[in-house]
Amino acid sequence: MKEIKAIIQPFMLSKVVDALHKIPELPGLTVTKVQGFGREKGKGSLHRIVEDLIDYVPKVKLEIIVHDAMLDAVVQAITDHAHTGNKGDGKIFIYDVKDAIRIKTRERGESAV
Ligand SMILES: Nc1ncnc2c1ncn2[C@@H]1O[C@H](COP(=O)(O)OP(=O)(O)OP(=O)(O)O)[C@@H](O)[C@H]1O
Ligand SMILES: [Mg+2]
Repeated sequence: MKEIKAIIQPFMLSKVVDALHKIPELPGLTVTKVQGFGREKGKGSLHRIVEDLIDYVPKVKLEIIVHDAMLDAVVQAITDHAHTGNKGDGKIFIYDVKDAIRIKTRERGESAV
């Protein structure tokens, strides 16, 4: 199992989620509003938030845990639909997931996802 963590521009979220909905058997996802900065340190963004003299840019974080077989389809959908070609498009990080538990059924491992 893998976790895909994608930090994308908020205005691209609905396009990305529409594309993810088209992947059969997508198990679910978590969305969080976040703020951070990349290589430009938040400078020059129209939407930047200044807190304690630090510049941050608002982004949206998607967290998706999938079976290994679905990894490439999810990464491709996010990459294609979050892309404008401009700075600040965001990043995707991929992690190994050790285990999962579905609380309702107490299933463990891949069948819990
Ligand atoms: N190395 C990192 N660790 C944690 N979060 C990161 C990292 N790089 C980027 N982020 C997060 O991703 C968001 C989007 O990054 P951004 O697209 O600006 O990356 P970049 O490296 O500056 O590349 P770009 O050229 O596309 O601007 C940042 O605002 C920050 O929240
Ligand atoms: Mg940047």
